[in-house]
Amino acid sequence: MTSYSQAPGPIGVFDSGYGGLTILHGIRQLLPEYDYLYLGDNARAPYGSRSFDVVYQFTRQAVMKLFESGCQLVILGCNTASAKALRSIQQNDLPKLDPNRRVLGVIRPTAEIIGKLTHSQHVGLLATEGTVKSHSYNMEIQKLWPDVKVTGVACPLWVPIIENNEADSPGADYFVKKRIDHIMRLDPEIDTVILGCTHYPILMSKILKHVPRGIKIVPQGEYVAESLQDYLHRHPDMERRCTKHGTVKYLTTENPEKFKESARIFLNDEISVEHVDLE
Ligand code: DGL
Repeated sequence: MTSYSQAPGPIGVFDSGYGGLTILHGIRQLLPEYDYLYLGDNARAPYGSRSFDVVYQFTRQAVMKLFESGCQLVILGCNTASAKALRSIQQNDLPKLDPNRRVLGVIRPTAEIIGKLTHSQHVGLLATEGTVKSHSYNMEIQKLWPDVKVTGVACPLWVPIIENNEADSPGADYFVKKRIDHIMRLDPEIDTVILGCTHYPILMSKILKHVPRGIKIVPQGEYVAESLQDYLHRHPDMERRCTKHGTVKYLTTENPEKFKESARIFLNDEISVEHVDLE
């Protein structure tokens, strides 16, 4: 077993890149008192179309880095990592690395709420290719809400559109409309659509413009935050191991200046960023 410090530390939030900032934002809105350490593997993003094994290895390295940096609790704020790596990390790695630490994902919190939001029992999922193909949402939702039918559509161009700061362009309208029309053609009874990718809330105004009237759009930040709050309430031992000074620090595997610049798409704050290597 690795000998990590047992001292309390910040809550770790991991993403392949910038998208997890939307999750961190949701968490900080509800739980501003905790300290957070955000890690973006920007040098190797996007993860969306990478294989299971690669996403698992990269995510495992990131979790170990956050553990080394003192995090007792890590949230995989990335759907692709939650879909492809979370279970293996929880079952195979945590017992060896440190059985007292925890790693949680973003799919389960959304699955828990979805049956309460849909009336037609037909739910759409817009996500990366990796998340859609993993069927993780379908499986989690099936366990909790067996009557809910989930139809997934991958939107491979949405992440690059956002990362290239084109979310407000007419080109973005074209690609958003195309995927929404596609999912509604596949199942016209859909009344609720999960944005199963951290980046997609940035396209919210375009999504609302092109989605048929009356359809609910479900971004994840709020539900992940509520689920984390509930988790900390149910696990006071872990809650005591999370420090509370209201600070946020950022780590990136890319150039910190580049991270600061691009993070402006997701945040309004001036932030301090450090470079880390993962291996
Ligand atoms: N963060 C990823 C997710 O939520 C999207 C970006 C990527 O493909 O790495 O699936």
